Amino acid sequence: MLSQVLEYARSQRERYVEDLLEYLAIPSVSAQPDHARDVKMAALWLADYLRAAGLRAELIATPGHPLVYAEWSGHDHHRPTVLIYGHYDVQPAEPFELWQSDPFQPVVRDGYIYARGASDNKGQHLAHVNAVASYLRCEGTLPVNVKFLLEGEEEIGSPNLGSFIAQHRDLLACDCVMISDGSLRSLTQPVLTYGLRGLAGFEVHVRCLAHDVHSGHYGGNVQNPALALAQILAALKDAAGRVTVPGFYDDVRTLSAEERRLLARIPYSEADLVRETGALAAFGEPEFTISERRGARPTLEVNGMWSGYIGPGSKTIIPATAHAKITCRLVPHQEPMKVIQQVQAAMRAAAPAGVEISFSDERGSPASLIALDAAEVQAAIRAAQHTYGNPPLYELEGGSIPIVHDFQTQLGKPIILLGFGLPEDNIHAPNERFALSCYEKGMEASIRFLAEL
Ligand code: BES
Ligand code: MN
Repeated sequence: MLSQVLEYARSQRERYVEDLLEYLAIPSVSAQPDHARDVKMAALWLADYLRAAGLRAELIATPGHPLVYAEWSGHDHHRPTVLIYGHYDVQPAEPFELWQSDPFQPVVRDGYIYARGASDNKGQHLAHVNAVASYLRCEGTLPVNVKFLLEGEEEIGSPNLGSFIAQHRDLLACDCVMISDGSLRSLTQPVLTYGLRGLAGFEVHVRCLAHDVHSGHYGGNVQNPALALAQILAALKDAAGRVTVPGFYDDVRTLSAEERRLLARIPYSEADLVRETGALAAFGEPEFTISERRGARPTLEVNGMWSGYIGPGSKTIIPATAHAKITCRLVPHQEPMKVIQQVQAAMRAAAPAGVEISFSDERGSPASLIALDAAEVQAAIRAAQHTYGNPPLYELEGGSIPIVHDFQTQLGKPIILLGFGLPEDNIHAPNERFALSCYEKGMEASIRFLAEL
C-alpha cells in the first residue's frame, strides 16, 4: 500500500512541479498593503487546491489576511489526527535587482525552483498537500485524520492566529501538529528542531528638526538625527558582539555541560556559515560557539534604517528624522514585552541632547522548547530516517515560528518541526529557491509520516 502511494506521488512529479510554479507566481507578500489582493488570491488558490486534493476547505476571515482551513471528510474518531500547519504568505522580495530571475515568475534552473516563497514556505506545505492527495488518489482513504491550517500572516508575526486558536480548540483538536518550515542539513541528513527562538520587535523614530534644512546654513548648529540614531544603536552592542542593554540576559538560562555537548555535535562550522552568507568571518559573543549563539543565546539586530536623501547625486540637507526597525531574537524564559522595555530604556538613555525619540509597532512572541519523547515524534523520526537514509539530528533553530508557542499552550499536543528545505535556499534573501529533490523527498517524508503515525 505504502509503496503504491509513493510510486503514485513519483509518477505525478511533473504535475506537482507545475502546480507549485503556479502557486509561486502569486505575490502573497503579507507585509505590503499593496499586495493584500494577492494574499487573498493565494488563499483562494490554496483552498481550491486542497479541494482538488479531496479535502473540505474554506477561507476563514480574520482582521488581517484570511486563514485557509481544510480537513478530510472521512474523519474517523478511532484514528489519530494530525494538524498540518504552514504559511502561504511570503517575505518582501526586495531588492529586486539582485534576483537573477523575477521573484514572482518562477523558473526551474539546474534542479531548483527559483521564486520568493519557494522554500519558505509554499513548497514545503504543498509537499504535505500532495502527499495527502496521493494517498487519496491511490487508496481512496487516509491512514490517519488530517487537518490543514495554513495562514497568511506568519511573516508578519501571526498577529491574528493566536486568538483564533484559543477560540477554536475543538475545530483544531488533534494528536500532534506537523510543521515543515525549515531545513535539512543536507539531502541525506534530516533535522528535527526541538527549539525555536522567539522575537521582540519595534521601530524607533528620532526627530531633531521640524523639517529638512540646508546643511550649510544650519550645519554645525543643530543635531543631526541620522548621526544621533547611529550613536543610539551603537550603544546597544559592544565590539565583541554582546548586547549591552541592562538586564537583557537576566532570564537567559545557563547552558548545561550536557546541552553544550549535544550542540557541539552539530556538524556546522564557521566555513559553512561563511559559505552560506558571504560574511567575512563569524561574529558574535566570543564565549559561545556558532550553534550555541544561534539556538541558545538571544541577539539584537537592526533590520533596516533610513534617513535623509538616498537618491542619485547629492542633496545637501540635514534630515529632520531618522528611523530604524529593530528585532531581538529571544530564548526560552525571556518575555518579549519585558525585553522591548529594556531595549527602549537603553536607547532613551543613549540618546544625545537635542533628540526626540519615540517608538512604535511593538510586537513579539516567546521562544519554544519541544519534547521529543512523544510517539508521534517518534513516527516522524522513522519517516525521516526512511526517506533521507539517516536518523535526524536534533537542533535548536535560530529563526522563529511565532504560533508554535500558542499551539503548545492552547492545544497541548506534541509539535513536530521537520523541515524539507536546505540551508542554502536563500530564504528571506534574493534568489530564494527550493530543490526539486527537496520537494519530492518532502512528499515522500510526508507520506511515510502518515503511514508511520
Ligand atoms: N521559516 C521561517 C523560520 C525559520 C527560519 C525556520 C530559518 C528555519 C530556519 C519563518 O517563515 C520565518 O521566517 N519566521 C519569521 C517570523 C517573524 C517574522 C515573526 C522569522 O523568524 O523571522
Ligand atoms: Mn520566513
